[in-house]
Amino acid sequence: MSRPRYRLLLTLLLALPAAAPAQNLDSLLARMTLEEKLGQLNLLSAGGRASAAQMQLVREGKLGGLFNVIGAENTTPVQRIAVTESRLKIPLLFGLDVIHGYRTIFPIPLGEASSFDPDAAQATARAAGLEAAAAGINWTYAPMVDIARDPRWGRIAEGSGEDTYLGSLMAAARVKGFQETIFATAKHFAGYGAAEAGREYNTTEIAPRTMREVYLPPFKAAVDAGAASLMSAFNDIAGVPSSGSAWLTDTVLRREWGFTGFVVSDWTSVAELINHGVAAGPSEAGRRALTAGVDMDMQSSIYMDSLPALVRANRIPMAVVDSAVMRVLRAKMRLGLFRDPYRARATPPVAETRALARRVARESIVLLKNDRNVLPLNRSTPMIAVIGPLADSKLDALGPWHTQGQPEDVVTVLQGIRSHASAAQILYARGAGIDDSSTAGFAEAVGAARRASVAILVLGEREDMSGEAASRSTLGLPGVQEQLLEAVAATGTPVVLVLMNGHPLILEWAADHVPAIVETWFLGVEAGNAIGDVLFGDANPSGRLPVTIPRSLGQIPLYYNHRNTGRPFEASNKFTSKYLDVPVTPRYPFGYGLSYTTFAYSNLKLSSARARASDTVTATITVANTGSREGTEVVQLYIRDEVASVGRPVRELKAFQRVSLKPSESRTVELRVAVKDLAFYGLDMKPVVEPGRFRVFVGPNSVEGLEASFECIP
Ligand code: NOJ
Repeated sequence: MSRPRYRLLLTLLLALPAAAPAQNLDSLLARMTLEEKLGQLNLLSAGGRASAAQMQLVREGKLGGLFNVIGAENTTPVQRIAVTESRLKIPLLFGLDVIHGYRTIFPIPLGEASSFDPDAAQATARAAGLEAAAAGINWTYAPMVDIARDPRWGRIAEGSGEDTYLGSLMAAARVKGFQETIFATAKHFAGYGAAEAGREYNTTEIAPRTMREVYLPPFKAAVDAGAASLMSAFNDIAGVPSSGSAWLTDTVLRREWGFTGFVVSDWTSVAELINHGVAAGPSEAGRRALTAGVDMDMQSSIYMDSLPALVRANRIPMAVVDSAVMRVLRAKMRLGLFRDPYRARATPPVAETRALARRVARESIVLLKNDRNVLPLNRSTPMIAVIGPLADSKLDALGPWHTQGQPEDVVTVLQGIRSHASAAQILYARGAGIDDSSTAGFAEAVGAARRASVAILVLGEREDMSGEAASRSTLGLPGVQEQLLEAVAATGTPVVLVLMNGHPLILEWAADHVPAIVETWFLGVEAGNAIGDVLFGDANPSGRLPVTIPRSLGQIPLYYNHRNTGRPFEASNKFTSKYLDVPVTPRYPFGYGLSYTTFAYSNLKLSSARARASDTVTATITVANTGSREGTEVVQLYIRDEVASVGRPVRELKAFQRVSLKPSESRTVELRVAVKDLAFYGLDMKPVVEPGRFRVFVGPNSVEGLEASFECIP
């Protein structure tokens, strides 16, 4: 919005009446009719602006919030109706999927998780919240904190990957960042990431221990960070849909964790209880969800339309309705909506937000391979071929769920390369479309590669090939891109493969034959600048994989923190856990990523050889930069509980630290682990730290590192 228009809007807003102050929510509740109560639990999507019918519902007090109303010029008039024309003048929530930026698009969450930098995640969430708030939004449906162990699942792009510890830190950071201005929603509660076969919306089987240890902790972290709301998930767990699970929303969330915020359903997930086969019709579905503790009904209209009769017939106690309504009203109060329903905010300075986007985009890049130090490129390289369908695509760089992100804001890789190597001649050839079957553009691409001294291929997925409803059964490059890569590589010109993708990809040929591979995920508006910074050495890559990259689809699910089995892999023994046709190991392990410099680890020491459950053990290790460039290492600490009453993972990440070192500099890094955080769920399903030996690994990723151990004593 232009500044004069903004000022005008601000003036109008200041002149607007505020909602009736509700000093006492109990007395407000006492004045509400049943329809007004259920209205607070009703949430509908608008198509950019509220429809006349929706405005009428607001007037009648039959809506608690709207989502997908875009722009303060559209939220303000509806809020005005709510706070001046509705009987009780209760303000509305305005929700939106602000996932990785509102207008200034940051890296997709999976990319950002590669930074292993929760402060960065907090900063981008804060910036996204500020931009969204200036556009009238007061509630985002983020962060997605689902653990994902299956790269076929498209929504893996929206989370922090496969690890519970990293995922929990990212969850808390994002909640805090958003909630500096708007409400966050930790989603999807719970188990959604465990969709069988990686197929979107699919059923899940999650053992109670795995649920407690792997899938739930990021939600707990979000709750502890103060998340105002949670969104219930689409999936069922062994037949119990998460949007109708009293165990999840009442027992665990409210009773065990003491969550005092509210739970919103996912899009029609209340109505979908009928498809799940646990409700015969809308009333039963609504009753099941509401009594389970799902407070707000997104998009089914079932609470509003079907529940009044059930409440009047005493089939749902009024107390259940009242509790849900109070949770929504308290949230509105906490957000300050009764005092300041319009929440006029100025758009934060674009330059600052873009600078943040560039910094975090650089940090999110993972260097997977760099044989013979092909990278960084020399700026004075005379001729560079830039090839591939993603090299100059503005839209795709934004990635899935890019909200109000605009293609025109994007700096493409081609532009980024041009500005970094301004003296070089750049030969650009698209080569093929992202999922084309035509090879007609290959000749031009091959010709460009032949003439150039290096060929940068920018390949990957379309922006809508990951995210919601975007599961894939294969994880190669779509269309003819793999052939394009092979054709260009056949010229003998050194190839740098720059990947843009939301699903982790399986690219075995490239891993074997291409000298340099740079994983960039989708980096958002500053993609080209950040990639240029890394390709030409202005930034030294420091991203690490938040997911395991398999060698073959058949290995999935493949994650680093698996249990050992009774017959762990042994090359010389056929009767151990393995495949006949592919190694058991991943192509690139969790936590992996290269740098333009090298780091050496030495002298691992633990503060104590014996520790009680109430103690903290500190690992110290010397990390040295042994190369010739300044660089940032992500020092990672993993543990293994060697013998326990329940088989424990072979490694679990418990601490990490980003450490920047100048050439030849070395530093003693300290990583602290509270022994109580090594607890697991015992045979009785209660958390326990059992006495015994814990192995501790400190190193650059989940498979390497130095080892020490300590004894946990009773
Ligand atoms: C469905 C998605 O699963 C959820 O993540 C999103 O917040 C809602 N739609 C609203 O757009």
